[in-house]
This record gives sequence, C-alpha cells and structure tokens, in this order.
Amino acid sequence: MRSMASGDVAKLFDRLADSYDAVGVDLCQPIAEGLVAVLGVQPGDRALDIGCGKGAALIPLARAVAPEGSVMGIDASPRMVELARVEVTRAGVEADVSVGDAMNPDLPIDFYDAVASSLVLFFLPDPLAALRAWSALLVEDGRVGVSTFGESDQRWQDEVDAVFRDFAAPEIADARAPGPPGPFASDESMETLLRNAGFRGVRTAATIVSPRFDDAEHWYRWSMSVGQRQFWEAIPEHHLDDARTTLFAAVERCHDPTGRIGFDQYVRYTIGQR
Ligand SMILES: C[S@@+](CC[C@H](N)C(=O)[O-])C[C@H]1O[C@@H](n2cnc3c(N)ncnc32)[C@H](O)[C@@H]1O
Repeated sequence: MRSMASGDVAKLFDRLADSYDAVGVDLCQPIAEGLVAVLGVQPGDRALDIGCGKGAALIPLARAVAPEGSVMGIDASPRMVELARVEVTRAGVEADVSVGDAMNPDLPIDFYDAVASSLVLFFLPDPLAALRAWSALLVEDGRVGVSTFGESDQRWQDEVDAVFRDFAAPEIADARAPGPPGPFASDESMETLLRNAGFRGVRTAATIVSPRFDDAEHWYRWSMSVGQRQFWEAIPEHHLDDARTTLFAAVERCHDPTGRIGFDQYVRYTIGQR
C-alpha cells in the first residue's frame, strides 16, 4: 500500500475544503470535540492543532484555553487555512492559523501545553517522525492527543469499503481502514507508536460515531468532501458509472433499524505526555 505524497495530500484537501464538514454529516466535528475533551486542556494553556482543517478541534481548543491561553493551528492546505480563519471569526474565538507542514512544523520548541491532531496522522509519510517532532514543541509534561480510525461496522466494510477499494487503484489507502498490521491497526499499536516517539503515560480513550445519510446521493457528496475522495479520483474514467451504480446499491442496503443509511465507526484517541 502506498501513501500519497505530502504535496498531493495538500492538493486533495485544497480541492475538497469548501465542502469539508459542510454536507450535513456529523463525523469530523464530534471526533475533534471528543479529542479536545480527553486532552484536558485548561484555561490559560498554549495549544497547537496540527492539520487543523477548517477548525473542528481548533475552535473548541480556543474556547477551552480562553481567556488567557492561546491557540495556533497549522495545515498543509492553503484553502483549509483560509476557511479555518473564516470559521474562527464566525465562532468569535481567538486563534492563529497558518500554512505549515506537520512533518516539519516551523514553530517554537518547548512551548505548547497541548498538541492536538485529529484525523491527520494517517496522511503523513512518517507518523513516528512527526510525533517526535511534535514532542519537541511541548513543554515538559505537555500532552499530545491524536484521533485515528479503527474499524467501521462489518456490514459497511464488506458492502461498501471493500467494493470501493476494488474499483480504485489497489495502492490507494483508505484513512478509515486500519490496513495491514501497522501503527493504525489497534489501540495497542497506536500506544506503541506514541511510546516509541518518546511519550510516557500513554493511554487510549475510544468512542463510536455513527454518521447517517439521507440517501446514496448524500453519501456520495459526503465521500467527495473527505479524504475518501481520493478513491473516486483513482477510479478509471471508464469504470466510474459502474462504480457509482454498484456502490450506490451497496450503500442503500446499509440502513439501520430506523431505516437511515450509515455506519458505526470506532474512533480511538491516543494520548501521551512528554
Ligand atoms: C481529515 S482532515 C482533518 C482536519 C481537522 N483536523 C478535522 O478534524 O476536521 C486532515 C487534514 O490534515 C491536513 N494535512 C494532511 N497532511 C498534512 C501535513 N503534512 N501537514 C499539515 N497538514 C496536513 C489536511 O490538509 C487536512 O486538512
């Protein structure tokens, strides 16, 4: 499995930024709010959000550290950064946002009380090196918290994710798939990753989020608004109609007892201390 080059990831998120978290599906926002809660950020803290997107964690962080703390967000996608600034203003909070690379953040060392990164680590070329770099930004005893995806429910995996992967280029990695044994495979392997990066007191908190869609077309708009868009873009043109028909039918079969379409997604929060 090949991960995308950093520049390609930034361009992917530039393309989808305007629709990201704007199609009426609750997934990234509740996950980010959960991360801020488990990080235990306090008023007065200096907090950093790496891969801040449009501010899903940044804005709750800004509220948690107010009035005397400070919050900084960085993202590789210039469009995400522009939109995060709009959201910060709209929310009436204080936060600085700038374009920056999670692999090589150009930020003060030994400075932050908390570093949050929600749904980002699996897009990075070297998650261990990234975590080591983030550790250096923290004060001693400062906390890092990352959210990553575990499994989605079995029916969705079999009906939708597997079919999606078959249509897309086989080397494309799905951020929601734990994939072959690696750092994102389990709570334990994520904890090992953080320990190997030098963090102590590493622990996991977990939650399940259950995004729901009005119909297959709504799911399609959502899947084009998140990292999964790379799958659609990887499907050869002459297979797109077939992929849409097959996947829409699969999605329509995955409804809950109330008749709504969706899946249940395990989310892990891995937290450590410098
Ligand atoms: C799934 S989004 C999550 C955004 C936000 N944290 C949230 O929870 O809504 C992943 C984000 O990571 C950013 N990203 C990916 N690779 C990055 C890198 N090397 N440096 C900084 N940001 C990166 C993307 O541009 C995108 O905004």
